Amino acid sequence: MSNEIKTNDLFTGEVKKKADALLAKYETKRASLLEILHLVQEQQGYVSVAAEEAVANYLGIAPIDVHEVVTFYTLYYRAPKAKTRFNVCRTLSCALLGARDIVGHLEQKLGVKSGAKDPAGQCSIQEVECLGACELAPMLQLNDDEFVGHLTKEKIDELIKKQ
Ligand code: FES
Repeated sequence: MSNEIKTNDLFTGEVKKKADALLAKYETKRASLLEILHLVQEQQGYVSVAAEEAVANYLGIAPIDVHEVVTFYTLYYRAPKAKTRFNVCRTLSCALLGARDIVGHLEQKLGVKSGAKDPAGQCSIQEVECLGACELAPMLQLNDDEFVGHLTKEKIDELIKKQ
C-alpha cells in the first residue's frame, strides 16, 4: 500500500504525462525502463530507493529489477549530485593512456576520493565505463553534457580553476 502512495507521489501531473508518453513508444513496459529512470532523475536530481520502488510499481515489475539497472549504469545517480561532477572513463583506451593518473590527480587537487563527493556537495569524482569517445582518451565527462579529452594534469588544473 505504501508503495502505491509513493508511486502516486512521483507519477503525477507533468511527470505522469511524460512517463505515459514514453510507455506508449515501447512494446513492453520493461523496455521503457531506462527512459523512465532518466525522467525520474531529471525531476529529482537522482534516483532514490523510494523512486526505484515507485518506478517498479508504475511499470509493474519487481523493485530488484529496477535496482539492478540503477546500480549497473553509472549515468544514474543514487544520491543527490555534487554541483561539479568529474566522471572519468576507466575503460581500456582511457586506462592505457593514464586514466588512473588523472583520477589520482583529481583526488589530490580536490581532496575527494574517487567514488565520493566533498561534504559540501561541491564536487565529486566517479570512475565510469566507456563514454563512447575513445579517440579522446584519456577523457572525462564533466557534469551531464561536457566531454573533455586528451586529458593531462595541466588540463585538469584548468578545468578545476573554471568551476
Ligand atoms: S575507453 Fe574511454 S571513452 Fe571509450
